[in-house]
Amino acid sequence: MSAIPIDLLIRNVRIVACDDASCSVAPPGFVEIAGGRIAAVGVGAPALAGSVRDEIDAGGALLTPGLIDCHTHLVYAGNRAREFEMRLEGASYESIARAGGGIVSTVRQTRDADTETLFAESARRLESLMRHGVTTVEIKSGYGLSLAAELKSLRVARSLGARFPIGVRTTLLAAHALPPEFSGRPDDYIDEVVQRILPEAARLGLADAVDAFCETIGFTPAQTRRVFEAARAHGLPVKLHAEQLSNQHGAALAAEFGALSADHLEYLDEAGAIAMARAGTVAVLLPGAFYFLRDTHVPPIDLLRRHGVAMAVATDCNPGTSPTTHLPLMLNMACTLFRLTPAEALLGVTRHAAQALGLQATLGTIEVGKVADLCLWNVDQPAALAYEIGAGALRARFKNGVQHPLQ
Ligand code: NIG
Ligand code: FE
Repeated sequence: MSAIPIDLLIRNVRIVACDDASCSVAPPGFVEIAGGRIAAVGVGAPALAGSVRDEIDAGGALLTPGLIDCHTHLVYAGNRAREFEMRLEGASYESIARAGGGIVSTVRQTRDADTETLFAESARRLESLMRHGVTTVEIKSGYGLSLAAELKSLRVARSLGARFPIGVRTTLLAAHALPPEFSGRPDDYIDEVVQRILPEAARLGLADAVDAFCETIGFTPAQTRRVFEAARAHGLPVKLHAEQLSNQHGAALAAEFGALSADHLEYLDEAGAIAMARAGTVAVLLPGAFYFLRDTHVPPIDLLRRHGVAMAVATDCNPGTSPTTHLPLMLNMACTLFRLTPAEALLGVTRHAAQALGLQATLGTIEVGKVADLCLWNVDQPAALAYEIGAGALRARFKNGVQHPLQ
């Protein structure tokens, strides 16, 4: 019972409780929201002591935490539909990248776009994410690859968060690819990242974390280490694109720096999984990229389970390897392609996704004191969210306790 004024009461709702290993559904009950936070949660009818400003009868619908997309490259200009065709004609992702396409072709388009165009193109994707139940999104830079263009991308990401009812966390991914003007000089570009781009992004408060692409077509572990050392010097947590196309032992390196997450992980080995478990580094699984690249090397899910590594699931929304904004579809793909259980997949876009962003104290579960980011679904059980191929079952979405229209 609470005596504080309640802004919103959602009654007759079945709350999905996500503990560390499973999701269970409570008998019909209620959630009280005050000041954008969850003020009370209970079974049955609320015993109200104070005033209630607004009230919703959910008719027994399922309530989950708002979905968190913890890995996206949402801010970019243009598209790579032509490269999609080339891959269908037989070219590989790596060969397109080596021939000057791939990430660098999006870099050209992103550099050329003015801030308004970049904002408008990215906003379209953000609105689609919101329509699918996302209440917090991580957005990486990485299609600028120069001081000016990286800052432009991060600023656009921050403005999206200010303009739309969605939480935005920004990640500096300047070490995503080698920009053409540094061709043949990767170490010089890393100098530029650690001496200019990263310090400036940190000084302006534009980055909440730092990421890198540690891969044969990206940066070496030694170069990645330099980026991580600079991040640490500026007090920023790190994440890593690791073990996507080959085993570079990037996950262990990330864990050494206490990374929030290591992402992709198709080629992760046991030593990497053990290092991640020790460091509390979350494994972010990206089935959209796996699917779109027609990858066949499944991330070692059993290893992650055995060593108790928390698993998150994200869209990886990007123009080259995962052009999607459909996070509920990723639940289905995580189960179908990676054999996650539906409960693991749901934890992957709620509790564990919050952890991958370092936001577990305020987001990711329906608990008193947490931010009232919530989704109401027209399904009878949590597994149905993963079962439907691209669930269209979202009934309502609440950000900071406020319901926003889905269209
Ligand atoms: O997460 N792996 C590197 N970065 C992206 C792909 C970027 C692109 O091709 O534009 C990813 O898959
Ligand atoms: Fe990515």
